[in-house]
Amino acid sequence: MDFKGKRVLVTAGASGIGYAMAEAFAAKGAKVWITDIDKVALQTIDPQWRSSLADASSEADMTALFVELKEEWGGLDVLCANAGIAGPTALIEDVTLEAWRHCVAVNLEGAFLAAKLAAPLMKAQRNGCMIFTSSTAGLFGYPNRSPYSAAKWAIIGLMKTVAMELGPFGIRANAICPGSVEGPRMERVLAKEAMIKGTTRDAIYKGYASGTSMQTFVEAKDIAAMATFLASEGGRYVSGQALAVDGHTENPDPKV
Ligand SMILES: NC(=O)c1ccc[n+]([C@@H]2O[C@H](COP(=O)([O-])OP(=O)(O)OC[C@H]3O[C@@H](n4cnc5c(N)ncnc54)[C@H](O)[C@@H]3O)[C@@H](O)[C@H]2O)c1
Repeated sequence: MDFKGKRVLVTAGASGIGYAMAEAFAAKGAKVWITDIDKVALQTIDPQWRSSLADASSEADMTALFVELKEEWGGLDVLCANAGIAGPTALIEDVTLEAWRHCVAVNLEGAFLAAKLAAPLMKAQRNGCMIFTSSTAGLFGYPNRSPYSAAKWAIIGLMKTVAMELGPFGIRANAICPGSVEGPRMERVLAKEAMIKGTTRDAIYKGYASGTSMQTFVEAKDIAAMATFLASEGGRYVSGQALAVDGHTENPDPKV
């Protein structure tokens, strides 16, 4: 895989999966531009990367980002529409409309804005690759995570439609559905769920892992590896797909 000279934008790239994606593309020669809302984290990234303080769900922020990106880069080869938040951990009757909207805004509207703004650049060059970060929550229902699951399913509908609209222009779109990724975000989810269910973090961890055929969590680098494959020559006819990287989820809600 050689991405020398390729222009790659990763939303929410200052940590977690987005950071691993940016790192993987940069390691293979790509020019990388990340966005994030965490000012402090943005200051610690590789100075060779471009970065912008931009909320993925803000039309104003994302429009300004794409104006700057077009001026500097002239186009975009790979979009990783990765921004997403876990949203509330609560039963449907306890989810406030405000929390629902915030979760859907970052996950789904963020993906929509990135795709909408990248499409004209990619169409003009008649090629490009869009990679959306969905989740196994976009393939199954997830009790206590209704806005997150709804938004991640919707991202797959968005991705499939974008793949159909842009395919004739040589543009591909796919979604990656990560399973539970080791790291601070899942630790927060585990802690909240342990509290709700009146059990321990370890019990919830084991429950999640035991819901997969491979009895495992995954790592951010595994998601990044799928992203680089999708953007590579080897993935040139892969489009419209939702690809799980999760050790094969069999049961998303093992009773713990
Ligand atoms: N971690 C997991 O287990 C897991 C599993 C499946 C899917 N995902 C998805 O992967 C993506 C990345 O998740 P992660 O685990 O790396 O997350 P994370 O919680 O580690 O956050 C990554 C970055 O997102 C930034 N961010 C938060 N809100 C933002 C916004 N509105 N605009 C721009 N940046 C914002 C944060 O500042 C942070 O730097 C998300 O879409 C998430 O839903 C994660």
